[in-house]
Amino acid sequence: MQIISKGLTFTYNREADFHRQALQGVDLTINEGDFFGIVGETGSGKSTFIQHLNGLIKVQGGSLWVGDFNLAPTDKQGKKQYKKMLKQLRHKVGMVFQYPEYQLFAETVFEDVAFGVKNFFPTLSDEEIEKRVAKAIDLVGLDYNKVKNKSPFELSGGQKRRAAIAGILVSEPEVLVLDEPVAGLDPVGKKRLMSLLHTLHDTGIVKTIVIVSHDMDEISENVNRVALFCGGRAVKVCTPKELFSQKDESSSRLGLPVTAYVSEKLNEVGVELSSDFKTENFIKDLVKKYKETV
Ligand SMILES: Nc1ncnc2c1ncn2[C@@H]1O[C@H](COP(=O)(O)OP(=O)(O)OP(=O)(O)O)[C@@H](O)[C@H]1O
Ligand SMILES: [Mg+2]
Repeated sequence: MQIISKGLTFTYNREADFHRQALQGVDLTINEGDFFGIVGETGSGKSTFIQHLNGLIKVQGGSLWVGDFNLAPTDKQGKKQYKKMLKQLRHKVGMVFQYPEYQLFAETVFEDVAFGVKNFFPTLSDEEIEKRVAKAIDLVGLDYNKVKNKSPFELSGGQKRRAAIAGILVSEPEVLVLDEPVAGLDPVGKKRLMSLLHTLHDTGIVKTIVIVSHDMDEISENVNRVALFCGGRAVKVCTPKELFSQKDESSSRLGLPVTAYVSEKLNEVGVELSSDFKTENFIKDLVKKYKETV
């Protein structure tokens, strides 16, 4: 499903004196198959934007299409019809909030993950539900038999996050949207979670992934395209290489991935590298340069 946002605006507490315009006209296209990153300083509207993608926030101004779903409510569409559309949409677009583990609520991991299946597939047999829950828990790298009867609160932070993601994957979404998915995890936990997202994407289990992140290494390593948000707009949509090699005012406060920082320093002493900033490509390029000079 392609996501097309045109002139999307949004104001919190519209009626109140303290209203706050969070989106000022977002123009952005995310293609089916993208592993897409959204970056930008705090308060730039990233979370507000992504919460539109599965209808958690209703479109106020501009247009937003997610596949065939027109998320800007039309006059012709009744409330009932809109609600029905939202349910279908949420089946296709899974949303993983920041710190999703705080939303685990059931007594056991099984019940928590099963909630999503029961919600979207109310007619399934118990046997089929169990099959799907086991598959989702396996997918996120947890041992189904070990965790199914545990309370979610007995799991470690990283495991809880995986369980929360299993609860989203169980409805088999085509698009997975994650708000700062690795925030607060240790380096190993971060790597594992990103590698899980890659597996889901590479194997086509989830066609499109959208992540919001403040970690530029994570962005340069993982995404094929990135949008830079600033003041409630997507001011740049490009590849990570373009984002990190063209410094200007809008991107100057972002910081750089380590590879781009080292490239910049090498450039200052006359060594020019041409690769993107994925560690593997960067190292290859560096070794090539080294061999040319010795
Ligand atoms: N529930 C809310 N009520 C009122 N204003 C809000 C609410 N949520 C966000 N805002 C305001 O909207 C603007 C955009 O916020 P948003 O959470 O989308 O930013 P963000 O880019 O996700 O930031 P961060 O990187 O800190 O998560 C900010 O000015 C914020 O203060
Ligand atoms: Mg946010």
